[in-house]
This record gives sequence, C-alpha cells and structure tokens, in this order.
Amino acid sequence: MIPSDVKATLSFSDGSPSMDLPIYKGSVGPNVIDIRKLYGQTGKFTYDPGFLSTASCNSTITYIDGDKGELLYRGYPIEQLAQNCDFMEVCYLLLKGELPNPQEKKDFDRLVSVHTMVNEQMQFFLRGFRRDAHPMAVMTGLVGALSAFYHDSTDVHNPEHRAIAAIRLIAKMPTLVAMSYKYGIGQPYIYPKNSLSYSANFMRMMFATPCEDYEPNEVLVRAMDRIFILHADHEQNASTSTVRMCGSSGTNPFAAIAAGVACLWGPAHGGANEACLNMLGDIQKQGGVEKIGEFIKQVKDKNSSVKLMGFGHRVYKNYDPRAKLMRETCHEVLGAVGLGNDPLFKLAMALEKIALEDEYFVARKLYPNVDFYSGIVQRAIGIPVPLFTAIFALARTVGWIAQLDEMIGDPEYKIGRPRQLFVGSEPRHVKPLAQRG
Ligand code: ACO
Repeated sequence: MIPSDVKATLSFSDGSPSMDLPIYKGSVGPNVIDIRKLYGQTGKFTYDPGFLSTASCNSTITYIDGDKGELLYRGYPIEQLAQNCDFMEVCYLLLKGELPNPQEKKDFDRLVSVHTMVNEQMQFFLRGFRRDAHPMAVMTGLVGALSAFYHDSTDVHNPEHRAIAAIRLIAKMPTLVAMSYKYGIGQPYIYPKNSLSYSANFMRMMFATPCEDYEPNEVLVRAMDRIFILHADHEQNASTSTVRMCGSSGTNPFAAIAAGVACLWGPAHGGANEACLNMLGDIQKQGGVEKIGEFIKQVKDKNSSVKLMGFGHRVYKNYDPRAKLMRETCHEVLGAVGLGNDPLFKLAMALEKIALEDEYFVARKLYPNVDFYSGIVQRAIGIPVPLFTAIFALARTVGWIAQLDEMIGDPEYKIGRPRQLFVGSEPRHVKPLAQRG
C-alpha cells in the first residue's frame, strides 16, 4: 500500500486528545484512512453498517467506478474483455493477473477441461434432495460437499491446494449446475464433453439427452460465455465478502465458496435476475405494458415494499456497464431464436424507458443493472428461471476463488471479526425461575 503525504486528524469535542490517521493511496479510486490503531488509542470503534464507507481489504483484482459506470478486471475494461476474450481467458486473467498468450490459453483450457467430471458419488448425494428443491439450495449443498470428496485440496494455507481447488471449482461448477437441473426435471445426467468449449460443454450438459445430442448454436454459446464474463467478479460485493470472511477462519476453499453461493442466493444480490423475470411475468399477467404505470406507482409508494427488480446498485450510480453489454447480447439472442417480438422483452424495454425518464429513478440515480437483461437472455436460451442464480454462481466462482487466494496470500490478512455498538441491556442478575414475574 502506498502511503499518502496527507494525514487525517480525528479530534473530539470533549477535549480527548486528537489522533493522526495515515492515509493510503489507491492506484485508481478513493484513498483510504487507516483506522487500525483507532481502538487501541481511543477505545472507540467506527460504525458503518452495510460497509458504506469501509474498505475491508486491499485488492488488485477488480475496480469499479460507480459514478462513471466503469468496471475493470485487472485493469482491463469489461467492454474490451467481453468483445475480445472468452470466459477461460478471463478466468486466467482473474486468477493470475495477466491475460494468457496462445500457449498459456491452450494449456489452461486443457487443465480446466480435465477436471470437469465430478466424483461419481456426488450423484448419490444429489439424490438425497427433493426433486422440486430450489437449484440454489441444491448448489449450496453440492459445493459444500466437494470438500468431502477432494481431500487433497482442502488446505487453504497451501498454495498448491488452493491452485488445484480453484481449477476444480471452475471446472466442476457447470457440471454441478447441469446435474441439479437434470435432477429437477428427472432426466439422466449428461457427462461433460471435453472437446467442447467451456460454455458449449455447459449448454450440452444442460440440453442434451442420451437419445438426442445438443448442437451448440454459436450465438447462444457466445451469449452464455458473455454472461459468465460479465458476472465473473465484482470486487467486494456481499458474496465475495462472505467468501473472504468465511475463508479468513482458515476453512477449506470449497466450504468458503459454498458460503458465497448461499449469500448470492438473496434477491438483493444474485437472486435479482430471477426476481426480475418473475416481476416481468407478474406485470404481464396483470395486463402487460398498460399496467406499467400502476406498477411504477407501487414501486414509488413508500408504504409498499415493491421494488423495480434489476434496477439500482449499491456502487453504480450510472448505467451498469455490464447492463449495456447484456442489452446488446439480448438483442442478438432474441434475433437468433426468433423471439424479437417476445412480449416479455417488449415489456422490459417499455419498463426500462419509463423508469429511465421517471423523476423518482433519475433523482436516485437508479439505472438498470446487469440482471435486468441477463434473465431475458437466459430465458431465451432455454434456461429455466429458478436456475438463473445458479448460473450466476457458476460464473462468480472464479472471482470468489481469486479473491480468496489474494486474501490468504496477503501478509496483512487476519480473521474477519467486526465489532459492534452494543445497545442491549446493561449487566443484570438472573433471578431463579420461581421469582420471575
Ligand atoms: N426500485 C425502487 N426503488 C429503489 C430501488 C429499486 N430497485 N433501488 C433503490 N431504490 C430506492 C430506495 O428505496 C431508496 O429510496 P429513498 O432514498 O427514498 O429511501 C434509494 O433508492 C436508495 O436505495 P438503497 O436501498 O439505499 O440503495 P442500496 O445501495 O442500499 O441498494 C440494491 C442497492 C440492493 C441493489 C437496491 O437498488 C435493490 O434492491 N435493487 C433491486 C434488486 C436488484 O436488482 N439487485 C441486483 C443488484 S446487482 C447484482 O447483484 C448483480
């Protein structure tokens, strides 16, 4: 970390001595005030629920400028990566810090593809779930269970274990997501085919059956790959922070990633694409485009809990750059599958237009996020709505594992242990049961 010449001074109105706090410079983006000695010197904590102003770590992986609507992986703009690279190149970049050259890419593709199968025993584990279980419930269990199968890569402090666990997780997630889908619909699992690309292989495991192979459609495969690229990492979001926090105890990488999967499930995070499609479906059922006005009224009503799903973001106070790319992909995919006149897509476009012009959304800088479009794309590809978040988890696995690896390799890393402002009862005495009124 690069120290700044400027220092912050914290002073108190009650005459307590003031304190100088060092400031560190980011290579781009905001500087941070180092408060690590604050408690030791003043006996006070800082208070920041939801981490609105707190950097929990230093990182070299992903940078977001929410006001500009900019997203960089290892310094490269997401737009250039989405246009020039495939998901495997992006995985390599996130894990290793640089884009691969042709030989490195070939070796990496091969390395991932030789780990795509899961232990055969996993299917018996899967069988314990109800067939109608939500795929994210199943995925949380399956990913956590990996640590019961791959004992030789569970020591998070061993760099070799971390490296092999990273490849295993990236390689096996598509297999697990496809297995949970096939289990839910009662079809046989389709084994991975390593001659296919990462995304084409995933789509084949999803859509082929033992009696009919799946012919990958280039446009759809590219769209799937783009969904993976756009969701691969997003700095210290809720699930990534969960993975870091969980991993900080020294638990194994599979357990830490399972914690990330669980966190991602929530509708304020990765569950938003599913919630967005469900919202569009509900508006459609109630009358479609004509009902948008009524729906927006509910969203703006302080007494209702209705939100425009797929809109707003903690960090982006401008158009989410991933949403622009996903919007482009959305048009391509709907064209390729002949769904250009799809009523749900038309409804989404009308809703987007109205929201972007509405004073409520403009004043709060609420723009569409990537989930607003990714659900429509996935639906057009043929992915069932409840599986959307599992696909997000598949894509985000590389980000989680890269961030976990970075944390463990950081000499300043400590177990995550936030403090609190206690506002409960002062110390009191336990009365015997008979004396309690
Ligand atoms: N619809 C309606 N109003 C909204 C929305 C929305 N989608 N998002 C925020 N607002 C309003 C809030 O009610 C609040 O209004 P107020 O100032 O009058 O009280 C204001 O905008 C600020 O919102 P916050 O909730 O403080 O913003 P925060 O940064 O905490 O939340 C979040 C961000 C959770 C993403 C929120 O915008 C949201 O719930 N959006 C819908 C869910 C969604 O799409 N999530 C996906 C996130 S992207 C991802 O995970 C890939």
